[in-house]
Amino acid sequence: MAIIEARQLTKEFRKFKSRPGLAGAFRDLFTRRYETVRAVDAIDLTVEPGEVVGYIGPNGAGKSTTIKMLTGILVPTAGHLLVNGCVPHRERERFVRTIGVVFGQRSQLWWDIAVRESFRLLQRIYGVPDAEYRRRLDELAGVLELGDLLDVPVRKLSLGQRMRCELAAALLHGPSLLFLDEPTIGLDVVVKLRIRDFLREINARHGTTILLTTHDLADIEALCPRVVILDRGRILYDGALDAIRRDGQGLEEVVRAIYQGEAVGGGAGAGPGGRRVPELGGGRAAEGGSAVEPEGGRQYGAGGAG
Ligand SMILES: Nc1ncnc2c1ncn2[C@@H]1O[C@H](COP(=O)(O)OP(=O)(O)OP(=O)(O)O)[C@@H](O)[C@H]1O
Ligand SMILES: [Mg+2]
Repeated sequence: MAIIEARQLTKEFRKFKSRPGLAGAFRDLFTRRYETVRAVDAIDLTVEPGEVVGYIGPNGAGKSTTIKMLTGILVPTAGHLLVNGCVPHRERERFVRTIGVVFGQRSQLWWDIAVRESFRLLQRIYGVPDAEYRRRLDELAGVLELGDLLDVPVRKLSLGQRMRCELAAALLHGPSLLFLDEPTIGLDVVVKLRIRDFLREINARHGTTILLTTHDLADIEALCPRVVILDRGRILYDGALDAIRRDGQGLEEVVRAIYQGEAVGGGAGAGPGGRRVPELGGGRAAEGGSAVEPEGGRQYGAGGAG
């Protein structure tokens, strides 16, 4: 059975639309105008246990919104969703025990207490038995080289140190599914490589399924046999990493071309379990209709805040 099963998953936000100028601002005080933004637009996504999937797309594509629905933080506007056999936003308590989440921009650790104490609190929250907790902590601290960091308050950690602790925190309860939203943002190359090795290892050793969002395509190339490319809330490509690399072209070039509306290469198919999304050839400008221009520009790779 699939570990993630999303059908026509959709999320719309109602956004305040301001009128231009001072007079407009004055009118806004009395009658507010809203517009609907479809951040995730009827996506179908199936992920099997043990897969490592790269979920990529330009700023504002809807990646974080998808992850928030998959983790039960946001309630979908429409569609069907089953993750680890649960409807995420409905069965919160049972569901969160089965997943781990890291948002690179946010911390799940308590700022003023030592990392070890945060871990203890998480152990209680997730109801992890002592022996199991010690075994997991030993393993995670070893692979992520946490060592002395465990006794330092989170606020005194560097970004890379904290991120290693965040990963450990997300895995202390032994989830079968791990969501990572830009986990390597701002990290130096050594920490980044260590985190890559770590993710590879937990996938190999425990069969942990990983959905990874990142603007670092080297992370994707190193980790993800399967790539899903999202733009304006719609999936443009879902298939094997190898199949989207054109002859002699690196992933970055190909992905840039896709974002700019060119067709995906790879000819006959997208590899095992992969599929090419048919309307892609028309370019994203042709999508019209429900397409929404996201805020904050469309520059890829800027690593803007989600
Ligand atoms: N809480 C919210 N209220 C209103 N609009 C939102 C909200 N969260 C996201 N959006 C909008 O939904 C769209 C998708 O945002 P999302 O954060 O999912 O993009 P993303 O793919 O994660 O981008 P990035 O690469 O910048 O992190 C954007 O247009 C954004 O402005
Ligand atoms: Mg985001």
